[in-house]
Amino acid sequence: MNDDSLSRETADFGAFDTLATMVAVIQPGGECLFANAAFENVLRLSRRAVQRGNLFDWFADASLLQDAVSGVARNAYSSSRLEAQLRCGARPHEDLLPVHVIVSQMEGTPGHGATVLVELIENAQQARQDREERALDQVQATKELTRNLAHEIKNPLGGIRGAAQLLAMELDDPEMSEYTQVIIHEVDRLQSLVDRLLAPHRHAQVVGDVNIHEICERVRLIILAEYPRGLTVERDYDTSLPDFRGDREQLIQAVLNIVQNAAQALHARIAAGDAVIMLRTRVARQVTLSKQRWRLALELHVEDNGPGVPADILDRIFYPLVSGREGGTGLGLTLAQTIAQQHQGMIDCESEAGRTDFRMTLPLP
Ligand SMILES: Nc1ncnc2c1ncn2[C@@H]1O[C@H](COP(=O)(O)OP(=O)(O)OP(=O)(O)O)[C@@H](O)[C@H]1O
Ligand SMILES: [Mg+2]
Repeated sequence: MNDDSLSRETADFGAFDTLATMVAVIQPGGECLFANAAFENVLRLSRRAVQRGNLFDWFADASLLQDAVSGVARNAYSSSRLEAQLRCGARPHEDLLPVHVIVSQMEGTPGHGATVLVELIENAQQARQDREERALDQVQATKELTRNLAHEIKNPLGGIRGAAQLLAMELDDPEMSEYTQVIIHEVDRLQSLVDRLLAPHRHAQVVGDVNIHEICERVRLIILAEYPRGLTVERDYDTSLPDFRGDREQLIQAVLNIVQNAAQALHARIAAGDAVIMLRTRVARQVTLSKQRWRLALELHVEDNGPGVPADILDRIFYPLVSGREGGTGLGLTLAQTIAQQHQGMIDCESEAGRTDFRMTLPLP
């Protein structure tokens, strides 16, 4: 391959360079037309060396891969997945990297006839993605269960309340009517809990143009009104972030829930006067959210210098009714996560004593 064609391949497939996963475009015999930057880095070879090489040489045992590539090239199937071991570095047999390989058909590339796209995902990366997908499925299942249960509980509550009221009217003994008051009071408490459980599913989304910084500023004002002393809310905004389509009121609610938790966790520092919440926005590229890949996304970080999420609930805080706080209902983060998901986004959390970071990632157009 001459230098002209080398630069042409780079121009044709250059977009793959932005991917975090390894990608190669090959001919059915394994001749490499292009390997993206991530792949080059792992192979520790120059682009020139890669594009003169044969993909099959870089694997410990390429026979399965060869079968898959020829099957896909023959159109026997449109894509195929397998596990393989990639040789990394200049010395063969030394470093073997376990990878998950996806082989798929590619639109014909002018001048090259049939070409095949080979994606490689490091198993560690794959394991993380699997874990995230499982967590997501679990959240979905829990949400459905909660919603159904909430409906079931809601229906008889009206009846119980009405009956207690009738009973109260029949009772002459004031001591007895204290009991009916307890019933009515507890029914009302359950009713409002159930209402909060059902809230995110009740209203249709009101979609308009949303600016993330306007949302942050609104939340900042609300929280500073609630905590006028001892709390600083700093901001670090990437003002190049574009507006996006979303439900403004819902998103304010989601961010407020996160910031409110931070402020509640900071009560000792607020008393001491050195509590800090940081609102930080950033652009993220090539992110996977709920199994879907997005070219561009925004990240909103809510960071605080509080004691951190209690370790025993850290991996469950987005589940309903999980709370580490006296008097907490454990619904704030569930609601925030539901709202983020309704915007195709998600919220995750990293926490240690002195630094807690809630990150909301939302895809951008
Ligand atoms: N920034 C934070 N620092 C420390 N712990 C936190 C933080 N954010 C959340 N948590 C923990 O996560 C728990 C769950 O939060 P969530 O908002 O879902 O429920 P809650 O605040 O307990 O009740 P509510 O329904 O009123 O919001 C909290 O009780 C708290 O223990
Ligand atoms: Mg809360």
